Amino acid sequence: MITIVVAVADNGVIGDGQGMPWHLPEDLKRLKAMTMGKPLIMGRKTYSSIGRPLPGRLNIVLSRDQEFAPEGVTVARNFEDALEAARRETARTGAGEIIIFGGAKIYELAWDLVTRMYITEVHVLPTGAVRFPRINPAQWRQTARESHLGDENAPSHDFVTLERIHPSS
Ligand SMILES: NC(=O)c1ccc[n+]([C@@H]2O[C@H](COP(=O)([O-])OP(=O)(O)OC[C@H]3O[C@@H](n4cnc5c(N)ncnc54)[C@H](OP(=O)(O)O)[C@@H]3O)[C@@H](O)[C@H]2O)c1
Repeated sequence: MITIVVAVADNGVIGDGQGMPWHLPEDLKRLKAMTMGKPLIMGRKTYSSIGRPLPGRLNIVLSRDQEFAPEGVTVARNFEDALEAARRETARTGAGEIIIFGGAKIYELAWDLVTRMYITEVHVLPTGAVRFPRINPAQWRQTARESHLGDENAPSHDFVTLERIHPSS
């Protein structure tokens, strides 16, 4: 199974190119729990915004930069190689899921292969140039939604699961 995890603002923004334009500790906790032990595929810009490999998971980072070789990271020069590394890891560990970790470029590369999305809808309207691709509602079914009110520390948000509707089903 190939799964996207993402937090998206109401205007589609997922980042400003440097990082995430909100602070949502609950989402980070959930992200950790959902991805632990699973291979992550991410773009070099997302990796750089985190600044270190995320522990307990194979971090596969896409970059065309031949100089880019941080310790603790599997670098892939194209999406096919990233996917192959992730599949080897799931075969080795028995993890049932490959996580597409972002950013926008990597979501686009994986788009047609993804069968599940864990989306945190963050109810804010930030500025930021990096946006999540448009979801075609005819192709996706919502299987879970959990709403959380905001407070002084965090905006209100919904945890949503989408499953791809297969044409044969
Ligand atoms: N809200 C969320 O859930 C979420 C999740 C993840 C990221 N983000 C945000 O998204 C932003 C980053 O997203 P982004 O779209 O700008 O960048 P990105 O997808 O993280 O990284 C893009 C980089 O990946 C490499 N790359 C892309 N396609 C490739 C290919 N086909 N083959 C080899 N390498 C390839 C290139 O690295 P080189 O330039 O090194 O060649 C490219 O510059 C940040 O603001 C981050 O905080 C948000």
